[in-house]
Amino acid sequence: MRHLINILDLSVREIDRLIEVADDIIKHPSDYGDVCHSKILATLFYEPSTRTRLSFESAMLSLGGEVLGFSEQSSSSAAKGESVADTAVMVSGYSDIIAMRHPKEGAPIVAAMHSSVPVINAGDGGHYHPTQTLTDLMTIRHEMGRFDNLTVGLCGDLRFGRTVHSLISAMSRYMGIKFVLISPEELRLPYFVKGKYIIDKGLEYCESKSLEEVIGELDILYMTRIQKERFVSEDEYFRLKDSYILTPEKMALAKSDMIVLHPLPRVNEISVAVDDDPRACYFRQARNGRYIRMALIMKLLGLIENDINEPQEQGEEIITDRFTCRNSRCITSTEQELPQQFKLTDKENNIWRCRYCETRAE
Ligand code: NCD
Repeated sequence: MRHLINILDLSVREIDRLIEVADDIIKHPSDYGDVCHSKILATLFYEPSTRTRLSFESAMLSLGGEVLGFSEQSSSSAAKGESVADTAVMVSGYSDIIAMRHPKEGAPIVAAMHSSVPVINAGDGGHYHPTQTLTDLMTIRHEMGRFDNLTVGLCGDLRFGRTVHSLISAMSRYMGIKFVLISPEELRLPYFVKGKYIIDKGLEYCESKSLEEVIGELDILYMTRIQKERFVSEDEYFRLKDSYILTPEKMALAKSDMIVLHPLPRVNEISVAVDDDPRACYFRQARNGRYIRMALIMKLLGLIENDINEPQEQGEEIITDRFTCRNSRCITSTEQELPQQFKLTDKENNIWRCRYCETRAE
């Protein structure tokens, strides 16, 4: 049984195949209208969502399946203190596949450890969001026709933006990628992403505080919302919230074939005046989410072949319980009796990271 916790749980070939299936679904929807007959998707959303939850539900309904679930913590037994582990055991008895969004980083890993059905991470805190990345990749394939030799600018909240973390890890597997990281000092890309997926792989990158200065170099501009809900200080959020606003004037400095992506929701980081620009792809991107999630559900239910030729790099894992995770957004901070587990991620420099949220041990 396979889960999707991190986008790297899928090989490059499997992602290509998912996009192929999603494209075929767009062309021949009636061929797929019954493939999940009598299957149930549970959507466990402990955090707000419009696109992700509704596109998952629309995906399962379009495949002829059924959906159940909750869309806020307060309406589930989490409000009574039920653990993620217990919830996963229960819900996997009521459904065939689970999509979970949770404010705590690593929560879907805990769910997968206890679930008897596939678990999909639909966003865990400020960590990862692999199904948004599938949507992003499908859009890049449609709009650019390729994944290699691209200069990818990521702009806004690179610190807490989980979509950014997953997209960088996915794009780092293609040839000739250059990343341009555009953020205020306080919202720079965290080291668990920058170190592992950019520096260690020797990829080209630069960091900038100014969108205007770098926009002309980009093939893709990935705009993001400043993630208000992850800030400890509201003052700091208000100080940073308008750091970047994409306007027609800034678009005039960009290449004529640059594309603008945004996982949405936008607050005010893209002016509505940009929406009519043919380079603005974010609404088409959101629509793709439904089809790629249909393909993903089919895959995890065993209706699309797994890639046996390209096993994921797992290697031998060295784990210890001698540290305590200091990240207050980590699932270890709330989940009862969850053992602390740290993986040795860099033998040479003796760096250990939390198994759930990847925060470095001190
Ligand atoms: C994103 C998320 O939830 O991380 N939204 C989405 O799933 N499309 C981005 C965001 O909330 O800013």
